[in-house]
Amino acid sequence: MTVETVQQTRALRGVLRAPSDRSITVRAAILASVAEGVSRIREPLESDDADAALRCIAALGAPAAPLGSGCDSAGLRIAGRGLRGLRAPSQPLFCNSSGTTMRLLAGFLAGQAFDAILDGSEQLRRRPMRRVTDPLRRMGAQIEDSDGHAPLVIRAARHPLHGLTYDMPIASAQVKSALLLAGLYADGPVTVREPAPTRDHTERMLRAAGVEVTVGAEGDAGRITTHPPQKPLRALDMLVPADFSSAAFFMVAAAITPGARLRLVEVGLNPTRTGLLDALRAMGATIHLSGLREEGGEPVGDVEIVGGELRGVEVGGALTPRMIDEFPIFAVAATQAHGITIVRDAEELRVKESNRLEGFVGELRKLGAPIEATADGFIVEGPARLRGAVVDGLGDHRVAMALAVAALRAEGETKILGAECVAKTYPAFFRDLASLVDDCGA
Ligand code: S3P
Repeated sequence: MTVETVQQTRALRGVLRAPSDRSITVRAAILASVAEGVSRIREPLESDDADAALRCIAALGAPAAPLGSGCDSAGLRIAGRGLRGLRAPSQPLFCNSSGTTMRLLAGFLAGQAFDAILDGSEQLRRRPMRRVTDPLRRMGAQIEDSDGHAPLVIRAARHPLHGLTYDMPIASAQVKSALLLAGLYADGPVTVREPAPTRDHTERMLRAAGVEVTVGAEGDAGRITTHPPQKPLRALDMLVPADFSSAAFFMVAAAITPGARLRLVEVGLNPTRTGLLDALRAMGATIHLSGLREEGGEPVGDVEIVGGELRGVEVGGALTPRMIDEFPIFAVAATQAHGITIVRDAEELRVKESNRLEGFVGELRKLGAPIEATADGFIVEGPARLRGAVVDGLGDHRVAMALAVAALRAEGETKILGAECVAKTYPAFFRDLASLVDDCGA
């Protein structure tokens, strides 16, 4: 087990490109495997979750290779096998702890002409899978789960899957994506209705590959339909932006450190992901966006954050899914804000890599944070004087990284046990954090 020690700091300064987007990298690997021709994925994420996805598609007959010299950025090339060209894996597909890989592959494999088993780490085996297996069965998929959990045994589809119209009970991009990917192998359209907008990377990438994706008119924007492809999927040629959810740790670190100034570059700014910016602005944070552009159908730009005083806010409704992965770090921001911060409609936090309501709240309290979990979120009263302590990452990358940022504002030093879990999405996190701490300037 790795223990990382983080000291209180007075200044943060610098420029950083956070690692590339996990959601986009996993989706690109999956779609590229069945495209026609060679896909080029520049700057893909290199992390445990990305490795899991790439190993799974290699086992299905579509290995990734380095882009090769002569290219101006690091990357991968994946020779697509066509929609019907993948082969049966010789062993269970091991998704490690990547829920995105497992849930998206469940949909993607449901209509293939071969059997496959999806399995994962103990942590992933504890996460709920019925949310994808139930609607996939309604499309005609033959899937067995173990009491609603992995391993998932997916039987060869003897016929095309059926189209589906599905009112999603929870706002989940993984469920939506699993169904839209299953739709590549259906004999009719797949329509999902989301209770609130969730990340739309799958829809954007399907469109880039030439699949017809329609979104409901105003007032019905949560209705998304994909149509069975009429032609082979176009290979992808894209640059993966920095992951907003990884950059978010530094956005909050800067926002809560008086005098800090950080610039996060080439960050994915898809509006379905940037709820944290709205919440921080409502708290009074100073944020400047620049260099706004599109890369491979995704909005990208630079985010500059200046430290200052924050005030408590309320977060709930449609904002919650737009910052679903940012609640651990948002809670840290709330500990430094004046007044009360309330988070609602966030029950989903109980079924992430850890229970991010009970477990995470407990670790933050060890640092002296006045935070209480509620039935569907948490309440924090700030500003709190945090004190260094020994805390546990709970095997959850975002918990470990959020605790490290809290430690920057805690008197003395904090030890984070089990810090190796950051490798899921951000292997160099502690190195990058150290590079931005500017105690000489303090
Ligand atoms: C993800 C969707 C979200 C998010 C997860 C990644 C994705 O999960 O929390 O980290 O890539 O689609 P849910 O679909 O369970 O909300």
